[in-house]
This record gives sequence, C-alpha cells and structure tokens, in this order.
Amino acid sequence: MKVICTEKSQILATSLAHALQTTVVEVKYSRFPDGEQYLITGELDDETIIVGSVVDSDSLVQLILLIDACDSSNNQLVLPYMGYARQDKRFRQGEPISARAVAQVLSRGVSEIITVNIHEKEVLNYFGVPARNISLARDIGTYIKTLNLSNPLILAPDEGALSFAEHVASAGGWDFDHLEKTRLSGVEVKMAPKQLCAAARSVIIVDDIISTGGTIATASSMLYQQGAKDVFAACVHGVLTGGAYVHLMAAGIREVICSNTIERGCSKISAASQIAQTIRKSDHKDKKI
Ligand code: R5P
Repeated sequence: MKVICTEKSQILATSLAHALQTTVVEVKYSRFPDGEQYLITGELDDETIIVGSVVDSDSLVQLILLIDACDSSNNQLVLPYMGYARQDKRFRQGEPISARAVAQVLSRGVSEIITVNIHEKEVLNYFGVPARNISLARDIGTYIKTLNLSNPLILAPDEGALSFAEHVASAGGWDFDHLEKTRLSGVEVKMAPKQLCAAARSVIIVDDIISTGGTIATASSMLYQQGAKDVFAACVHGVLTGGAYVHLMAAGIREVICSNTIERGCSKISAASQIAQTIRKSDHKDKKI
C-alpha cells in the first residue's frame, strides 16, 4: 500500500503515510501552455490511498486526473475537505446539486471513500461506492485541553452544530450551548443569544467550517459585549476565504484553531491518525472476508 496526493494535501498525506508505515508516491504536477493541468506519478503499488481535498476548481480537476493516473491500482480515496458539499440540495429550480455532481465524478476509479466531517451525512449517499465519514470533534476537544483554560464554554454557532459542540465538549466534560444565527446574505450573519452565560468565561466557538468567518466574528463581538473573558474559534475545515483570518482577529478572537483537512498556518490538529485507523479497520475487514 502506498499513499499519493494532490498538491493541496501534501502535509496530511505525508502524516498519513507515516501513520500507515508506508511512503508517499512522488507526483510531478505541471501545466500546459494554455493552463490545463498535467501530472505524472512515480511507481505505484497494487493498493493506493489517494488523498486530495477539494478546496477549489483546480484541486478538483487535479484530483480527477490523479485518480485516472492510478487506474492500474486498487484505490481508496481520502477526501479530507469536500468543496461543493454545501450545495447539497436543489434549493431553487435550475440549480445543480453540486455535492452530487462532485461525488459522482470522484467515485469513478476508486473502491471506497473516506470523508472528514462532511457538511451533511446525506452527501455520502451521492457517492457511487461505499463512503464513510469520520469526525474530528474529539480531536478538537483534545487540542482545547492543551490550552489549559479554566472551565471553558463550548459554543455552537447554531442549533444544527450543537451535537458537534457536544462531542468537542465531551473531551473535557465542559459546558456546551448554542447561539441562534440568522443568515442575511452570503456574507452577512446576525447572531442572537439563546441561553448564554459567557460572562467571565473563556468561550470556544466550534463549527465544521469557517468560511468568511462572518458567523464567528459576529458571535465573538456579541460574547465580548456579554463579558466573555476571551473567545477562541475552532473548526475542522479552515476555508478562511476573503481575509477571514484577519477578520476573526479584528473581532477579538484569541486563537483560530483548525485541522489539516485544508492545510493552513493555523492547522493545529491532524486528521491523519483517525484516517489511518479507519483505513486499517477497512483493511482488516477485507482480509477477514
Ligand atoms: C454552514 O452551514 C457551516 O456549518 C458554517 O457555519 C458556515 O460555513 C460558516 O460560514 P462563515 O464562516 O462564512 O460564517
């Protein structure tokens, strides 16, 4: 078994290979003069773990090309961050179900798929092969422990994320709650409190994705108004688009914590160990059969 990856998932793939006690196949990535992507892989094994987050259109195309280049091998696909997953329904007539379109194209040439905190579990059904999702909620909790905060409050930005906050909080037996959020536009979010008691407490707002940072920046300002001691932001997927990191810092966030499903300077949590465990379990299951 060997690991191979797209350009945007090199660090996670290397950690994963280390955890699986194997190596990463080198890939040379380049472009034709017209901008089209090209790649060529080193020597493959019979079993290949392909690792590639879809963070933009280029990384999606590169992942499609990489899967095709590995067609001589039995492939498992690790999709640490699946862009386009948030358009998981046809909200208005004439729209694509983008999550379905991406899932279908990435299912060709792989026998199994592992995702990490996929935006909605239903998206797993769009893949044409068995797909499993792992959660880094406990890993976020484990990282929060290292901050040595006294009696922190774990907050979800909305009710939908409450179960995620509960799992994060379970790592330390901490309090958890949620805020109420009203989205005014693609980038504007209005927050209203539910039952917060943030005064004099360290608050960690946790979410699956930080995209523009608008949700958490609004919540942060509100929590400081209520007397919070300090506010942290933690997520699995640090999309951090359009200056989100700076926006969060300007809103008084003490530290932005994310995982390496998208490789960032603030990727403090690695998904490698959980992905490796899932691959080992799947390997074991196949051998038993
Ligand atoms: C939404 O459904 C997600 O779970 C996140 O809450 C959202 O993507 C965060 O967006 P932003 O950072 O732009 O407020």
